[in-house]
Amino acid sequence: MNEFTTDSIIAVIGAGTMGAGIAQIAAKAGHQVLLFDIAEGAAQKGIKNICKGLDKLVQRNRITQPEVDKLISNISPISDINKLASADLVIEAIVEKLEIKQQLFCQLETICHANVIIASNTSSISITAIGAKLLKPQNLIGMHFFNPAPIMKLVEVISGLDTNKQVANNVFELAKSWGKLAVHAKSTPGFIANRIARPFYAESLRIHQEGAADIATIDWLFKDCGGFKMGPFELMDLIGHDVNYAVTCSVFDAFYHDQRFLPSLMQKELLDAGHLGRKSGRGFYQYDNNSKPETIRQQSPVELDITSITVVGNLGVAEGVLPLFEQLGLKIDRVSNTHKNSIETAGKILIGNATLMLANGQFTTERATEMQCPSLVHFDLSLDYQQSTSIALSPCKNIPQQALNSVIALFQKIEKKVIVIDDIPGMVLMRTICMLANEGFDAVNQQVCSEDDVDIAMKAGLSYPRGPINWANILGLKYTLEVLKNLATTYGEDRFRASPLLQRKVAEQQLETIRNNKTIGQN
Ligand code: NAI
Repeated sequence: MNEFTTDSIIAVIGAGTMGAGIAQIAAKAGHQVLLFDIAEGAAQKGIKNICKGLDKLVQRNRITQPEVDKLISNISPISDINKLASADLVIEAIVEKLEIKQQLFCQLETICHANVIIASNTSSISITAIGAKLLKPQNLIGMHFFNPAPIMKLVEVISGLDTNKQVANNVFELAKSWGKLAVHAKSTPGFIANRIARPFYAESLRIHQEGAADIATIDWLFKDCGGFKMGPFELMDLIGHDVNYAVTCSVFDAFYHDQRFLPSLMQKELLDAGHLGRKSGRGFYQYDNNSKPETIRQQSPVELDITSITVVGNLGVAEGVLPLFEQLGLKIDRVSNTHKNSIETAGKILIGNATLMLANGQFTTERATEMQCPSLVHFDLSLDYQQSTSIALSPCKNIPQQALNSVIALFQKIEKKVIVIDDIPGMVLMRTICMLANEGFDAVNQQVCSEDDVDIAMKAGLSYPRGPINWANILGLKYTLEVLKNLATTYGEDRFRASPLLQRKVAEQQLETIRNNKTIGQN
C-alpha cells in the first residue's frame, strides 16, 4: 500500500460547497487535482467560486497572486468521468444518498487503477454500508471535512468494517500534510463531532421548551459564559432546521432510538411551519429588515453595601471568581467544610442571608429543601469566571427578595450582567457541558475514537472553546458524574444516564485516593 506524495493525483467528485473547498486544499498542497461534477458547467463554477474566495485572501495579503495562479493551475475541470482513470485518491462530495454514492463508487472501480483509494465526505452515511457493494471495500474510507473546508482544521478519517488499516493511516498522514488536524474514527452514527454535538442542540431546546429561559438569553450565555462562537439557536438557524433536524433524526434512528438522541418537537414544529432559519427568513429568530434584535433580560442595578462574604469549603472550578471580589476590597472569610453529609460538602458562598452554590443537576428548590436552606441560589458554569461579562443565577422558589438582592448586588459589584433564569436542573451550561462530555466518554467507551480525539474533533471541527472531556476534567469527573446522576434522578429519563467509562474513571480516581491514603498511613 503506497503512501501518498505530492505527485499523487487527487480526483474530487462533486464541485459544490464541500467539493470545491476540498479541491482547493489539495491543489494548495501541490497536487494535480481533477474536479468532476455531473452537472454541466458545475466544475467550472466550482473553480470560479474557489477564485472568488482566494481573491478576498489576496486583498487581505493572506496569499499572493502568483500563489493563487499556481493553485488554480493545479485544478483541471473534468467533464468525462473516464478521465479520472489516473487518480490515486478520489474524494467524493456529491449528494447525501447511499445508492447514488454506491453506484458512483462501483463505476470508479471499473475506471480507476487497481490501487485507487476512494474516500467519501459523507456526514451521515455508514462507510461500512457504502463499502458493501464494492469489489474492494478495503480501499474505501471516510474523509469527513467540515464546512468551510479550507478553513476548518478537522478531518475525521473514518474506517468501515473492511477498511484496510494502512489505507486509514495513509489518508490520515495525507490530511496532516495538508495542514489538517486528522482524527481516526470508527464508522458509527454521526462519527465523532456530529454525534457528540447532539446535546449542544438537544439540551438548549429542552431548556427553552421547559420555559427556563428565552432563546436570546440561552444563546447569550453560551457565547458570553461558555466562550462558544455562536449560541445553539443562532447556529441551528444558520445550519437550517431541515438539515439539523435530519442529522438528529438520522443519528436517533441509527442508534435504534436511544433516548439520548431524541429529536425535539420544538424543532419539528419550526420545520412543519417552513421556518427553516436564515435561509427562509425565519427560524427561532426573524431575519427580515423590520425585526428588532432580541435582547437578553438582565437584572436592573441593586444598591446594597456588601463588605464581606464567607466561603465555606472549596468552590472547585468557581474559585476563579474569588480574585474579582478580592480586587474590589471585599473581605473573604474562608471556613473549612466539616460536614460529612455529601449534600453539604460542596463549596458555597454565604452573602448576608443567601447561600450561593454551583449548579449540581438538581432543582435549586430541591437542593434547598434537602439542605434546609430556604435562601439557596444556584449559579451556572463558566468557561472563565474572570473573562465572562455575565453570570446566570437560579434561585430556589420564594427566596426572600433581600437574599436574592444580595447575590445580585455581589455580582454587579464586579460588573457582571446578572441574568436570572427559572429553576431548572443543571441550569444552562453546567447541564449541556456535562452532557457533551458524557457523550464524548460514551464514544470513547464504544471504541469510536480516543479521548484526545474527542477534544480535537470538537475544537477543530466545530470551533468549541474547549474540548468537552478536558472541560469535564477541569470541572472534576466526580462533579460531572454527580450532575448527570442528579439529572437522571430528577428526570427519570434514560437520556441522562452516565457513561460507564465516566463512572469507571471516577471509581478509579477514588480507589487511587484510598490507595494513597493507605500508603501514607503505613509510612
Ligand atoms: P452541494 O449540493 O453543494 O454539492 C453537491 C455537488 O455534487 C453538486 O454540484 C452536484 O451537481 C454534484 N453531484 C450530485 N450527484 C453527483 C454525481 N452522481 N456525480 C457527480 N456529481 C454529482 O453539496 P455539499 O454541501 O457540498 O455536500 C456534499 C457532500 O458533503 C454530502 O455528502 C454532504 O453530506 C457532505 N458534507 C457537507 C457538509 C456541509 O456543511 N455542506 C459538511 C460535511 C460533509
